[in-house]
Order: sequence, then C-alpha cells, then structure tokens
Amino acid sequence: MGSLAAARLLAAGFSLRLISRDHQPAQRQLHWPDGRTSSIHLAADDNDTIRHLVVAVKAGETIAAIQPLLSRMHPQADIVRLQNGMGSLDGLTLPGTVRCLHLVSTDGAWRDAEQIQVVAENRTLIGDGSPRPPPWLTDLQPHWPGLSWTADIERAQWQKLAVNAVINPLTALYRCRNGELLDAGEREQRMQLLAQEADALLARLYPDWPADTLARSCEVARQTAANTSSMLADVLAGRPTEVQFINGYLLRRAGQLGLALPAHQALLTELG
Ligand SMILES: NC(=O)c1ccc[n+]([C@@H]2O[C@H](COP(=O)([O-])OP(=O)(O)OC[C@H]3O[C@@H](n4cnc5c(N)ncnc54)[C@H](OP(=O)(O)O)[C@@H]3O)[C@@H](O)[C@H]2O)c1
Repeated sequence: MGSLAAARLLAAGFSLRLISRDHQPAQRQLHWPDGRTSSIHLAADDNDTIRHLVVAVKAGETIAAIQPLLSRMHPQADIVRLQNGMGSLDGLTLPGTVRCLHLVSTDGAWRDAEQIQVVAENRTLIGDGSPRPPPWLTDLQPHWPGLSWTADIERAQWQKLAVNAVINPLTALYRCRNGELLDAGEREQRMQLLAQEADALLARLYPDWPADTLARSCEVARQTAANTSSMLADVLAGRPTEVQFINGYLLRRAGQLGLALPAHQALLTELG
C-alpha cells in the first residue's frame, strides 16, 4: 500500500523519501487494474526534518517504525496512517501539535519483490476527526481515485474494522477464501455471532449504529469471494497477523465499557 500511495503522491508532484529498514532507495513497477504499467523511483531517506509521514507498515510494526523518527518530526508535521485496524498508535507519545490523519481504504494491492499488482482502486476516506482537510488534499485528490475527506473518520474506521473482524480471522482459522465463509453452516453461524457482538459494542458507541455488520460482511465476502484475506496470507506466510488491532481492539474497547465479546475472545485464543 505504501508503494501505491507513493505512486499517487509522485504523480501529484510531491517530493518524497522512502524510510525503509534497509535505508536504500527502491524501484517499483506498478501494474494497474486497467492494464497499464508504470515505474516509480523512491529516493532513500535523507535524515532531514519530516513534514509529512505516510505510515504503511502492518499495524504491529507501527511503534517500532515511528519511535526512531520522533526527534525528526516537524512540530506541525502530519502523520498519515494507511493501515487496517485501530489502536496502532496507542502507547506512542506524539508532540501535541502533530496532526494525525487516518485513511480507510478499500483499494487492494500485493507485492512480489519490485512488482506491485494493484488489484482494486475503490474508495479511500481520510480524516482526523476535524471538519477541515489539510490544504495538500486538493492537490492529491486528482491523482488518487476515490479519495475524499470525512469529518467522522472514526466511524468509517469502525465500519471497516467490524467487517474485517468478522471475515479476516475466520478465513485465517478455516484456511479458506473469503467466499468460502458463506457455507450456510458453522462458518456463517460464527460470522453471525461475531457481527452481533461487534454491533452490540458499536451501538454503545453510536446510538444510531444500524446493526448491519452481518449484512455488510456477507456482501464483502460475496464481492471478494475469490480473495485470500490479508490475515490468511499472513498466517500462510508465517507472519504475525493484525488480529490484535482488529478483534483485539474491539475487545479492548468493549472491556473499557464492561462488555464481554465471547465469540471474538474465543477467536483470538484460537488464532493464538
Ligand atoms: N495490501 C492491501 O491490499 C491493503 C488494503 C487495505 C489496507 N491494507 C493495510 O495497509 C497496511 C500495509 O499493508 P501492506 O499490504 O502494504 O503491507 P506490506 O506489503 O507488508 O508492507 C509493509 C511494508 O512496511 C515495511 N516495514 C515494516 N516495518 C518497518 C519499519 N520498522 N520501518 C520501515 N519499514 C517497515 C515492510 O518492509 P520489509 O519489506 O522490510 O518487511 C514492508 O515493505 C496494513 O495495515 C494492511 O492491513 C492493505
């Protein structure tokens, strides 16, 4: 996702640096859904002051990635979090003047070495809980299909997180593609329980929550039937999953309200 964001930022004329673990520049070739191919060059980090930081690491890597950069952050820097899940910045003390923006994206991409396959360009919401977008957003929007500002990004994050919390861990547990959850049996029953519990929590946070998590999850499972979820891909590759920032985050927020979510707790235990 970082390469996809970089391609769009470069197209919009922004100058950027890649902050990677190996401190090297990189070349990426992007294959777009319409068949086009384009190449980008990502210059190496220059150790200069950081005005804007796009964070596109998996949620569990966030603190390790950002902590060493804090001393380089401009007091009025923007951190743009391009990640699934919630709570990845919890525990990090940022200067009060740093603006933290969140992206909720239904774009899709996967990487094989330098090759980036962009599988979907859908919709991306961005916000920080305030009504006013930063001035750079208008320069970026023409080059980022479906990018729009929302004053209520937290609700958009919850909407995505609730569906991810139903689909992703079950696909990882059953080692199945998204569409194979719709089995009219045990998997669908578990989807129903997970969705009900998520809706119970979200109704406490948003009195007008429509309790539509199951319907939205089934729709996503149908629309992405052939897809391997990122959590299943992580499990198959032996990588840590983002479950602690999806179901784990739901459980932490529910715990603060004295609400038990046994289906989510059981899933977290089963996934280890
Ligand atoms: N891929 C999608 O279709 C998609 C769609 C929507 C949302 N998301 C979300 O977007 C986020 C990123 O996903 P992704 O698929 O792009 O993950 P990814 O392919 O694993 O890319 C993460 C990148 O972060 C780098 N990284 C890890 N720790 C770092 C550190 N400490 N400092 C610098 N770089 C570091 C990794 O470098 P190494 O190569 O050195 O490990 C890797 O290049 C996740 O939260 C994911 O759930 C993904």
